[in-house]
Amino acid sequence: MTIWTPQLGDKGPRYRRIADAIMAAIQSGELAAGERLPPQRRLADQLGVTIGTISRAYAEAHQQGWVESRVGSGTYVRHRDDEATTRFRATRMVNDGMIDMSMSFPPPHSLRATGLHNALTRLCASADAMQAATDYQHEAGTPEQRDCMAAWQGRLGLPDDPQRLLITQGGQHGIHLVLRTLVQPGELVAADALTYPGFVCAARQAHLRQLAVPLDEQGMDVEALARLCARQPPRLLYCMPDLNNPTGARLSESRRHRLVEIAREHDIWLVEDAVQYLPPHQRGTALIELAPERTLHIFSTSKVLAGGLRIGTLSVPAQLQERLCAALRSQSWMVPPLMVQAACHWMEDPAGQSLLDWQIDELAARRALALEHLAAYQPRSQPGSSLVWLPLPEGQRSSQVQAALKQSGVLVSTAEPFCMGSEPVPQALRLCLGPPASRELLLHGLETIVATLAKPPEANWATV
Ligand SMILES: Cc1ncc(COP(=O)(O)O)c(C=O)c1O
Repeated sequence: MTIWTPQLGDKGPRYRRIADAIMAAIQSGELAAGERLPPQRRLADQLGVTIGTISRAYAEAHQQGWVESRVGSGTYVRHRDDEATTRFRATRMVNDGMIDMSMSFPPPHSLRATGLHNALTRLCASADAMQAATDYQHEAGTPEQRDCMAAWQGRLGLPDDPQRLLITQGGQHGIHLVLRTLVQPGELVAADALTYPGFVCAARQAHLRQLAVPLDEQGMDVEALARLCARQPPRLLYCMPDLNNPTGARLSESRRHRLVEIAREHDIWLVEDAVQYLPPHQRGTALIELAPERTLHIFSTSKVLAGGLRIGTLSVPAQLQERLCAALRSQSWMVPPLMVQAACHWMEDPAGQSLLDWQIDELAARRALALEHLAAYQPRSQPGSSLVWLPLPEGQRSSQVQAALKQSGVLVSTAEPFCMGSEPVPQALRLCLGPPASRELLLHGLETIVATLAKPPEANWATV
């Protein structure tokens, strides 16, 4: 009989902490597939709780797909039929033996597979839902789907007005729709000098001219923007006020107000990208709150549920709704109803909240690990973020360090793809803490980075 003793966290109701401890033990391998959990009465005595608390914890773990109960025999760790998910994750995240810190994914957890499993099971249980998922539907999504997504965003502290919300195929799609709808080829669009590469590429594809606005630790230098506007104002300005990807800079409150003032003065559309999710207490006032008449807010399921869902939202001023719907229709009629419906069911599943709670704690632990190991290099990373911006020491070239790290099995990004227009490339790396399959792998990646930076630049040069 197992002698497993749960390690309980200190947040939330006790049954939930026990359920979380079971999941963590299964994840870490402390409890193996097929292993029997302690009998409920024994665990209740051991933890000094009622047997009802243990029953509820086991029921929670069961509901989330971690354990199964066998009548008259007890509760066992499930042989997961989603073992394939783990293998898939291992190949994707470790990338043929590489530790991938180059792409911004949320940290792996089997609750993601559980969430999708529950969502699809719910969808398949209803003939009407299956029918609806295979029919054409309104391009903005059905009223029920928009209500569901708005409510989900509301729970995350994001725009929650279903009337202003359009369902998209993810944040990137939102960027494309906005650029295709609001700006004509040849017009000027502005963004931080270092910004999300998906915006840079979309602007290039839409034949737009790019205006790079300098930024510092407090985000976009809005006075520099004002000077640029005096020469020629952009038609649209794209920004990530809470967390600039890649530098992690957060726009100060006073700059947010000034930015809105400038946008009003020059009639500039503001595109606020919140895809890099941060917990509400780690965000500032949203631009959409400060300037609802000219802000288009972009969000997606990618950093909270799963990137492969390809589901996102655009919250827009009422007068733009029709034009954006027409653009969406002309691109693909609608977002696939099946995926929208699956995402909605997932949003309504309590397992989604457990996943997010776990993820916030996990990213905080990963961030602490990174800041500790990289301390000598003054890494920048905002609380709640999964990104670290690492300016390189004098003499080190980012492309050479990147190549040396690749040879040692670690993938990172340089600043190159994040540069607007033909801005000079700073010598720095962007590290993503989410993708490594475990904290151990992340630690290995960090140690490799430290060892590589400790070498003289010539040593890294030789590897290009
Ligand atoms: C700032 C930002 N916006 C948009 C996206 C694209 O999101 P999605 O996967 O929903 O298209 C990303 C992806 O990393 C991002 O970092």
